[in-house]
Amino acid sequence: MGQGKTKLTGPDLADGIPAESLDDGQMLVGHAHGKAVLLARAGQEIFAVSPHCTHYNGPLAEGLMVGATVRCPWHHACFDLRTGEALRAPALNPITCWDVAARDGWIKVGQKREQPQLRTHIEPAAKPERIVIVGGGAAGFAAAEMLRRVGYQNSLVMLSSDAAVPYDRPNLSKDYLAGAVPFDYVPLRDESFYEENGIKIQLGKNVVGLDLRAHEVLLSGGKTVSYDRLLLATGAEPVRLTIPGADQPLVHTLRSLADSDAIIAAAKASRQAVVVGASFIGLEVAASLRARKLEVHVVAPDKRPMERILGQDMGDFIRTLHEEHGVIFHLETKPRAIDEVVHLENGETIESDLVVVGIGVRPRLGLAENASLRLDRGIAVDQYLETSAPGVFAAGDIARWPDPHSGENIRVEHWVVAERQGQAAAMNMLGERKPFAQVPFFWSQHYDIPINYVGHAEAWDEIQIDGNVMGKDCLLRFKRHGRVAAVASIFRDLQSLQAEVEMEREVAA
Ligand SMILES: Cc1cc2nc3c(=O)[nH]c(=O)nc-3n(C[C@H](O)[C@H](O)[C@H](O)COP(=O)(O)OP(=O)(O)OC[C@H]3O[C@@H](n4cnc5c(N)ncnc54)[C@H](O)[C@@H]3O)c2cc1C
Ligand code: FES
Repeated sequence: MGQGKTKLTGPDLADGIPAESLDDGQMLVGHAHGKAVLLARAGQEIFAVSPHCTHYNGPLAEGLMVGATVRCPWHHACFDLRTGEALRAPALNPITCWDVAARDGWIKVGQKREQPQLRTHIEPAAKPERIVIVGGGAAGFAAAEMLRRVGYQNSLVMLSSDAAVPYDRPNLSKDYLAGAVPFDYVPLRDESFYEENGIKIQLGKNVVGLDLRAHEVLLSGGKTVSYDRLLLATGAEPVRLTIPGADQPLVHTLRSLADSDAIIAAAKASRQAVVVGASFIGLEVAASLRARKLEVHVVAPDKRPMERILGQDMGDFIRTLHEEHGVIFHLETKPRAIDEVVHLENGETIESDLVVVGIGVRPRLGLAENASLRLDRGIAVDQYLETSAPGVFAAGDIARWPDPHSGENIRVEHWVVAERQGQAAAMNMLGERKPFAQVPFFWSQHYDIPINYVGHAEAWDEIQIDGNVMGKDCLLRFKRHGRVAAVASIFRDLQSLQAEVEMEREVAA
């Protein structure tokens, strides 16, 4: 995942290559001045940039060029080839750019460029004096980062009930839980970032009320914070088991860094674990606990893991994949009680020192509900992510927005969507009035197998399969009324990106 030391490959681009060796739309990796460089051509323009995505170091040369941008094959970040700017999350940092010259039939890469000033110009009149963000997760952080990135200079307060600075939540069930990466990988930015950028972050602060008329948020303890624009990004909380014994210390849920640390500490002292729920998070936890050499049992009422989201074939594949790694499934049953052992409804008992419950989440809507914001199984927002109260925006797991691709009002629990909505809400709080129209994307990782998903299909009439699911090389199209609503893939990254572009074209049309 980390940048590490990259072995240089391909031609020395400082010496140059013949111009005819780079066609329109083509990318080529070489090196210049001791650094790896990606050369790309869009029409007459030639770009030289770093070939590594700034999210998890994905190989941009294996991604997709769309005009003068490049999209990362792993989690669909997008970079501007002219400026290096990270145009789309999950990447937040720019890629490096180099000068490039095309002369006398040769292309040569020159010196590294200064990072240019970024795109958006904010009219002074449009700048609110005080922006408050409630929530220090994906949406809240991405909003704050974007506000400062585009030059917003007035007061910016971020209130988070979490004790830790914003972190990479998806890692908590994957590499961090598995012990494959150190803590340094987890924070999205170190603590100095907030001070240097004038983001007044208040950690461990629970917002308990909103006064929409006075434009104030109320903190537990009685203090108030005033705003001109407010972003609600309170995310979701895990659904808990309500069976006898579910309140014992050996039973965990996983949402926060503290939750992940508690599971790691328990796993170190455990031999056997039960994961309740064959959801993405449940199964990622199962994989990570197997990496820690625990015996892992997964208990779930489903016939197949993840069938409801990914269909039968993918469900069978995921089950087989986990069984090959030693996970023992107990499907079509549920836990009934937990004492010294976990009792299942089908009469089985499983010994366990650790139970992790991953049976879904509920959006945290209390603040919105008490303030009488319009709700619709989430906070209802318009295309600008503005709630029913003018000047109050919502983003991430709590927001139900009009998704132009599906034509439905949807709410999802995807990291990338939360970040992109945070960024879009940030710009709209500054008066940009740009509809949020990005096609949803999520990924999940099980052992060394990534699953990517683009679009949104709560129901489908048909799944069209290209390739071989069991062979770990496939692309599944979920079709509704003859139209592709979503695409899931394993090791078909380019096709997944192409499907995304296709869906965007449909939206634009
Ligand atoms: C373990 C795990 C793994 C995941 N893996 C993936 C993945 O691989 N791919 C993917 O697409 N998605 C994944 N997700 C989902 C993804 O993390 C969420 O969709 C995303 O974090 C939602 O962002 P958010 O900003 O809406 O909420 P969050 O990131 O949950 O942030 C909410 C923030 O609000 C704060 N807060 C809540 N209430 C209050 C209050 N009253 N006052 C003050 N602060 C408050 C919380 O402390 C938190 O800081 C994963 C989630 C988990 C838990
Ligand atoms: S590595 Fe590029 S988007 Fe994740």
